[in-house]
Amino acid sequence: MSSLLIDRIGELVTNDPTVGDGSPLGLLTDAAVVVDGAEIAWVGPAAHAPAADRRLDAEGAAVLPGFVDSHAHPVFAGDRAAEFSARMQGKPYGAGGIATTVGATRTATDAQLAATTRRIAGELLAGGVTTFEAKSGYGLTVADERRSLRIAGEFTGETTYLGAHVVPAEYRERRADYIDLVTGEMLAACAPHAKWVDVFCDRGAFDVDEARTVLTAGMAAGLRPRLHSGQLGFGDGIRLAVELDAASVDHCTYVSGADLDALAGGNTVATLLPGVEFSTRTPWSDGRRLLDAGVTVALATDCNPGSSYTSSMAFCIALAVRDQGLSPAEAVWAATAGGAAALRRDDVGVVRPGRRADLTVLAAPSHLHLAYRPGVPLVRSVLKNGVVQ
Ligand code: NIG
Ligand code: FE
Repeated sequence: MSSLLIDRIGELVTNDPTVGDGSPLGLLTDAAVVVDGAEIAWVGPAAHAPAADRRLDAEGAAVLPGFVDSHAHPVFAGDRAAEFSARMQGKPYGAGGIATTVGATRTATDAQLAATTRRIAGELLAGGVTTFEAKSGYGLTVADERRSLRIAGEFTGETTYLGAHVVPAEYRERRADYIDLVTGEMLAACAPHAKWVDVFCDRGAFDVDEARTVLTAGMAAGLRPRLHSGQLGFGDGIRLAVELDAASVDHCTYVSGADLDALAGGNTVATLLPGVEFSTRTPWSDGRRLLDAGVTVALATDCNPGSSYTSSMAFCIALAVRDQGLSPAEAVWAATAGGAAALRRDDVGVVRPGRRADLTVLAAPSHLHLAYRPGVPLVRSVLKNGVVQ
């Protein structure tokens, strides 16, 4: 196993508040990192760095933990560019568009679905994302949900069963039968391929009672809960997520006072998806209000062909800073340590000895540039499991 010294780091974001400037980002200047195999072996001032077999010169750039994208839907076919164009000209977004992607996904071959997932996984990695979550939810039959998760599992261990994305057209008049399928035969087929269970609990999708039924069935099958809620309107989903100790509740655009209190008193991360609000022209979720209440906030891409067809975490950081009230430091934390918290992972999202050697070297001197230079490709190199990609 060979070691690698990364030195001449202008600014190191560790997300370890016990080192460096003492802020949540744990910023170190003139730092070095030594990687041994797939793990971080040493972090500290460059002048004291131990010797290593190989060297990577950061040339004064910023180095961050790899981004952790805790919410993505990369297994699908087709696109909805025309729907996006119509929205930009005033047509509202609704959950109904999901049916278009379901139709395309069902008729795609396994190879086509795998090719799209591979392409998006490649985009994520090139943009500095070293861990991502992948949901099913565009199949909505037993066979199509199972194969979506099988394909997702070829690219990530963070797989999420989202059979309860919407009620498919053939079940429109018999919702209860679809819930029975999602909690019965479909769950049994999907659980071996999934780590998480998720529900789209929102207007036009599933109500809170249906969500509770699906999440508790998934939990009984060994899956861990997470939830989509508060995207399209107020409801009881956010409080359900906290009650079930879901790892994360995602979107959080419509958050009541009671929702805020529940989040502040619980262990559930609020994940913001600013790409959705950008791409659907809907109101920005108020990240400032969540943070000021003491809620843990994550940022994710929600990469999907309908509501947010971006795989760029840097773009999401820029939006969160510009329009959701996060400081640049808070947004970078949310896209790294926050994403790790939303997946209940402590081995990623932090640069500390013993943690995974997942790192992003920027083509910029500080993390501030991610929001300051929107749209500019600032990821110079990426290490995943200690390997330069
Ligand atoms: O997270 N909100 C539900 N699901 C996706 C949208 C999927 C789609 O429009 O295709 C989301 O935004
Ligand atoms: Fe989503």
